[in-house]
Amino acid sequence: MSVAGRRQRPLYARVLMQVHATTAAPAETAADTLVIGVFDGEDVAHAGLQALLESGEAKRAHGAVALTHEGSRRRLLAGLGKREEFDSERARVSAAKVAKRAGELGAKVLCWELPPGGDDAVAGALVEGTILASYRFDRYKEQPKDESERDTPLEQLIVSAAADVGAAVARAQVLADAANAARVLQDTPSNDMTPTDLANRAGELAGELANLSVNVEGRAAIVARGMGAFAAVAQGTYEEPALITLRYDGPGASGPTLGFVGKAVTFDSGGISLKPGEHMEEMKYDMSGGAAVIEAIGAIARLALPVRVIGVVGATENLPSGRSVKPGDIVRTLAGVSVEINNTDAEGRLVLSDCIAYAIAEGAERVVDLATLTGACLVALGHSHAGLLSNDDDWCAQVEGAAVRTGELAWRLPLHAEYATITNGTFADLNNAPAGRLAGAITAAEFLHRFAGETPWAHLDIAGTAWDLGRAYAEKGGSGYGVRLLVELAGSVAAPA
Ligand code: BES
Ligand code: MN
Ligand code: ZN
Repeated sequence: MSVAGRRQRPLYARVLMQVHATTAAPAETAADTLVIGVFDGEDVAHAGLQALLESGEAKRAHGAVALTHEGSRRRLLAGLGKREEFDSERARVSAAKVAKRAGELGAKVLCWELPPGGDDAVAGALVEGTILASYRFDRYKEQPKDESERDTPLEQLIVSAAADVGAAVARAQVLADAANAARVLQDTPSNDMTPTDLANRAGELAGELANLSVNVEGRAAIVARGMGAFAAVAQGTYEEPALITLRYDGPGASGPTLGFVGKAVTFDSGGISLKPGEHMEEMKYDMSGGAAVIEAIGAIARLALPVRVIGVVGATENLPSGRSVKPGDIVRTLAGVSVEINNTDAEGRLVLSDCIAYAIAEGAERVVDLATLTGACLVALGHSHAGLLSNDDDWCAQVEGAAVRTGELAWRLPLHAEYATITNGTFADLNNAPAGRLAGAITAAEFLHRFAGETPWAHLDIAGTAWDLGRAYAEKGGSGYGVRLLVELAGSVAAPA
């Protein structure tokens, strides 16, 4: 609990869109709005929409949306661009553009006809794009008094296809709902999204889902375990930190135990090495890695994937106070390595060093960590790709595969002994913030590398992708990046390609 008088409003009790697949033709469904797509150089069977194409009002370019009415029903025509360029990501974007238009039109039940040549992946992507684009974060805003001025959410999505795409559609719904749940965690400000709130969300999922358990430990246990780096970050705030451990033991699990580790700094002020004020409010999203881990494991449990996963989320605030860790302080990590804290704003690697070591000690055999770790990664890669760094080519390729399939892109940056030496300390084994700013995303990863050791490990620096992704299905604010990637990765471990 934090300061007295905090409101206890349900954060996650959102009305979810209903989604299902049908082999019936769109016109036979109860939808008020029917959508078909059209590729470049192709025509559509519907006379009204074909006429719009011929008049130039409707376009075939990817992302275009045109509207016509037919009695009480609407028909939307979605431009899909070149057939050979159409893939899951383009389907997600098309679905998002359609969802936006449908929302403006007050549509309640939308039916997408699977584009010709579309498979399970495209059907799933249409569902993801629709649900992700329908996400709103407005719980702090007063709703317009006049009902007609209110945003009316889509209530139902139907995917019509000749083949049965029901399983893909159901899976996509779980994924997109989980990503949206992560976005709620990201967007909620730090006064209402404390480490305890994150732990409660993990507990809520564990209470609801089979084969999933959660254990939460606070400041005393973090100190007692010898997680000196994590404890050092947490010592400056009155807010109770949380070491959140999720364990999912899937039915019929085989393969290596996966370790998903997430940075969850619920507010990063920089600590004594205080950040400049500009955009500091955005540092509520410094818990995005932890949010992705919690919601991904929730989705994995909901899908009952046959895998074993340990999730470790290190949650704390990073604040300046009379008891904060100070530049120059030396702490000892769980792994026994000593660290000189030259910059209290390089707190993510401190929290993660102990969490990665802990995940491995608890049995993780393949590790992925997600962290909004460095501004340098944002400078290097912008919002499109996460930074990906790994000590194991096979594991890295598996993560990259999941990234491409989900559209949650990542680009590999190198690890090298020459970067590792930059993290050596002057008075301790390591220092958390090397002088100079060169290769900042890499030196941060090299710091983590020391704690992953030989265990196959991949690090995703999501400083850019977690926020303001700028895609049609996740424009501003939290993106939920990593949720779909982690579930896809777990799926690929469960059923190797
Ligand atoms: N949470 C920040 C990184 C960050 C910056 C994420 C901007 C998203 C947007 C992290 O804790 C941090 O402050 N990193 C420092 C490290 C430096 C002091 C070595 C940075 O990137 O400036
Ligand atoms: Mn920081
Ligand atoms: Zn941070």
